[in-house]
This record gives sequence, structure tokens and C-alpha cells, in this order.
Amino acid sequence: MNLNELLISHQILAGSNKVFSGTVNNLNKESTEVIYKPQAGEKPLIDFLQGTLYIREFVSYLISQTLGWPNIPETIIRKGPYGIGSVQRLIKYKNQENYFSLLNNFPNELIKIAIFDLVVNNADRKGGHFILDCNNILWSIDHGLTFHHIFKVRTVIFDFEGEKIPKILLNDLSNLLEQLTNGECLINKINPLITNSEFAALKNRINFLINNPYIPHLNPFYNVPTPLI
Ligand SMILES: Nc1ncnc2c1ncn2[C@@H]1O[C@H](COP(=O)(O)OP(=O)(O)O)[C@@H](O)[C@H]1O
Ligand SMILES: [Mg+2]
Repeated sequence: MNLNELLISHQILAGSNKVFSGTVNNLNKESTEVIYKPQAGEKPLIDFLQGTLYIREFVSYLISQTLGWPNIPETIIRKGPYGIGSVQRLIKYKNQENYFSLLNNFPNELIKIAIFDLVVNNADRKGGHFILDCNNILWSIDHGLTFHHIFKVRTVIFDFEGEKIPKILLNDLSNLLEQLTNGECLINKINPLITNSEFAALKNRINFLINNPYIPHLNPFYNVPTPLI
């Protein structure tokens, strides 16, 4: 995205935090519709450092780009009318979908999202955090509660428990680990954005999945988001 001024269209009341839709114009005056989550609009949480959720949205995007999956709309950090925040390309959809309505038709995409959530330690994978666009491409959204150094995955995705992680995805995980260990480019981008212990825990989780290549059994009482959708 080539961005200059961000104009807010309206507030999206479905968000747990202050979430806005808006447009940004590039130099050719073409406008892109975006979702803007300013740091100033983040609700305090007990377990995540105040004012860091927009950063986690961006780091999640960087991880998805390195893995090659899942589809997360292009995300950057920039200033808007309410200050610095995450700005993500808005995905238009036909119908409101959720995990349960998508499960039968998109198992290959959803298993990637399940593995991704284990990698980034997603503490808030609600049933509505999926968008099916007009071309039938499935997108994953809302990755603010990620990268905590303590394992706290909370998810609605329990259907792949015990399944072996496909070899092709394991290769992608190995490549990601290599980039996070020796790839200066990715390390230099991520290091200033999360803490050292969060960075170390990220690498440990990937290493664990490579050495134990199965989707783990999670606890249906503790590892679920509230609300579910
Ligand atoms: N990239 C996106 N494209 C389209 N709609 C989005 C996108 N990101 C968020 N939304 C919409 O905004 C709502 C609130 O966003 P969400 O990411 O859940 O915010 P919060 O971080 O406050 O939980 C979502 O339920 C969805 O309807
Ligand atoms: Mg949300």
C-alpha cells in the first residue's frame, strides 16, 4: 500500500477495541479501504502490555508473509487521525461467515490457521475471525492478542486435534525458524516490536511443532475464547 492521508469513514462497533474503517489515497488518488485500529483505542487487558496490540497485528502479518500462509490482509503500522495504530486492508465479503459455516468447505485453509495460531500463540481465535471474500478466498483477521511468552492459545478450532502436520507446512515452519534464527532481515524487523522473552517463546513454539508434528489436544475449558463468536 502506498499511503498518505487516512480518512475515517466510520467506527465499527463490533470490535472489542476502537476499530474504524477508512480510506487511504495513494499518489494516483486511488483509494484503498482499510481497517484502522489506533493504539489509543486499545482496551486495557490483564495479560497483555497496554498499547501493544496494534504491534502484534503487524508482527502476525509479518509471520504469515514469511510462512506463506494463512491469508492475512496486508497490514502496516502508521499514524491516522487518532495517532499510531495498525492499518489493514479491508476485505469485502458477501455473507457473514464463521468458523462453523466454513469448516466443511475450507479444511486445508483452516488447518493452516490452526497451526498459525499455535505459532503466534493466538489468545483470541473467535469463530468470526474469518472472512470469505467475493473470490472465495478465506482471510484470517484480528491478531492483536498474540505472542505472549506464556502459552495461552484460545480458539474455536478443535477439529484438527491429533492430525499430523502436513510435510509441506512443516517445511514452511522450518524455513520460518531459520529466518528467525539467522535471517537478519526478519529478525531486525521483529526484534524491536516484541520482547526478548516473547521472541524466544515464538522460536520455542515453532521448534516444538517441528519436533512434535501433530496438532495438539487443547483443553476445551481453558483454551477457548469468550465469547466464542
Ligand atoms: N481486514 C478486515 N476486513 C474487513 N473487515 C474487518 C477487517 N478487520 C476487521 N474487520 C471487521 O471489524 C470487526 C472488528 O474487528 P476486530 O479485528 O475483531 O477488532 P478488535 O481488535 O477490536 O477485536 C470485525 O468483526 C470485522 O467485521
Ligand atoms: Mg475482535
